[in-house]
Amino acid sequence: MEFEIICGSPAKQPAGCVVAGVFEEGKLSAAAELLDSAAKKFLTGIVRRGDMNGKAGASLLLHEVPGIAAERVLLVGLGKQREFGAKEYRTAVGAAVRRLGDAGAKDAALYLTELSVGKRDVAWNVRQATLAAQDALYRFDKLKSKKEEQRRRLAKLCFAVARRTDKATAEAALAEGVAIAAGMELARDLGNLPGNICTPSYLADQARQLGKAHRLGVDVLDRADMEKLGMNTLLSVARGSHEPPKFIVLRYNGGGSAKPVVLVGKGITFDSGGISLKPGLEMDEMKYDMSGAGSVLGTLKAAALMKLPLNVVGVIPSTENMPGGSATKPGDVVTSMSGQTVEILNTDAEGRLILCDALTYVQRFEPDCVVDIATLTGACVIALGHVATGLLANDDELALELLAAGDDAQDRAWRLPLWDDYREQLKSNFADMANIGGRPAGTITAACFLSRFAEAYRWGHLDIAGTAWRSGQEKGATGRPVPLLSHFLIARARRASKAAGRKRK
Ligand code: BES
Ligand code: MN
Ligand code: ZN
Repeated sequence: MEFEIICGSPAKQPAGCVVAGVFEEGKLSAAAELLDSAAKKFLTGIVRRGDMNGKAGASLLLHEVPGIAAERVLLVGLGKQREFGAKEYRTAVGAAVRRLGDAGAKDAALYLTELSVGKRDVAWNVRQATLAAQDALYRFDKLKSKKEEQRRRLAKLCFAVARRTDKATAEAALAEGVAIAAGMELARDLGNLPGNICTPSYLADQARQLGKAHRLGVDVLDRADMEKLGMNTLLSVARGSHEPPKFIVLRYNGGGSAKPVVLVGKGITFDSGGISLKPGLEMDEMKYDMSGAGSVLGTLKAAALMKLPLNVVGVIPSTENMPGGSATKPGDVVTSMSGQTVEILNTDAEGRLILCDALTYVQRFEPDCVVDIATLTGACVIALGHVATGLLANDDELALELLAAGDDAQDRAWRLPLWDDYREQLKSNFADMANIGGRPAGTITAACFLSRFAEAYRWGHLDIAGTAWRSGQEKGATGRPVPLLSHFLIARARRASKAAGRKRK
């Protein structure tokens, strides 16, 4: 999809379709008003006759509206004006783009971007519209022998801004939106690919390709390298599988000699549970257990496309978790790369076992901060559902940064406590710690486990078990939390360049 920022009268846009909003109270948005007066109250008549009720997500496509240059007018319901906020805005853009996808228009001028959404600015409107549009257009038919009929003719979307002086800001925001959307798409595709295709080796190939396309440094460690480093908890997970494990490192260097942000993504390409085998129902969904890894690749892609003036290192420990003959058994004790010993009481708590060695490994980058992203616990789905990502951190400032980034991106997280009081649950009679802490507070005890390997730096942990994919009819990967992470990096880049500006003065 091609995107462009435009400015000017909606009535005079020579587009295949011009899109404007209507509130549920029957009130036309400013752009719809302009169309209405150019069309001699044509739209007022439609609303009065009840053909457009303005309900959120409703749409009405009109042809050859008198006085309007565009071939079509698409009216989109915005819901009640009083309640119009970020969520309603995204719903409206999504509904508009879906409707356009079925229509014959080749291009469209969206005036929804001119709406005021709370206290959000033009940049926010444009970024969110780009993400909502890409989300609405996403299809995953790579594995169908007959591709979904390509009925869609829509090739170009123009976002309108009200003032000419906003155009430059909007164009910069559009570029960010396009970059983030590309990162999300990568994360989604990888999440949707099944375990027999998206293996650890496949992820390593994807990393190499990304590296080539965007000039990232890429290293892939094999089993032998990991043995040398003493990554025994990671390797203990890989023992039950025939697929070779990979430890992937990507380096994006946009920030000179600054300390890097390190992103660590859980890359379990299939989680059967191992010897502590999962029940059969919906086990297929455990192909998404590499979504943390996918979001690291996606975010690095976005960062590179945006040319952020930062250094970012992506680290992906990747393996399958299978119950083969050599698999780790409940009760086995292994020595992690950090030297701490772990009693593996449940082989299904494997995410923390691969992440802990990665958290030890990343010390070598002398990180400014480390954020890991993992589909870590079913308990997080119980606690926060599919709405918020779980956030735990050993540093308040970093936690606030991540929360703010999530709010801004409409990809929200919610913080849970990481108090010492929970550590007791991980006590083991036979090793330094156990890999599970019982049923209570499962998300927190998992993070407590990780925190023992992250004491050398500022660290945040995102549990995306509930947010990385949807189950049910609309089953599939969501691309979250690429928007959160991208906004986190954008905000840091802004602060870094401001600080550099001050120094120069
Ligand atoms: N990948 C799962 C977590 C998960 C479960 C993600 C459901 C999405 C939906 C993880 O490896 C796991 O199995 N966790 C266990 C931990 C338990 C054994 C302490 C869980 O949550 O049941
Ligand atoms: Mn598991
Ligand atoms: Zn898992």
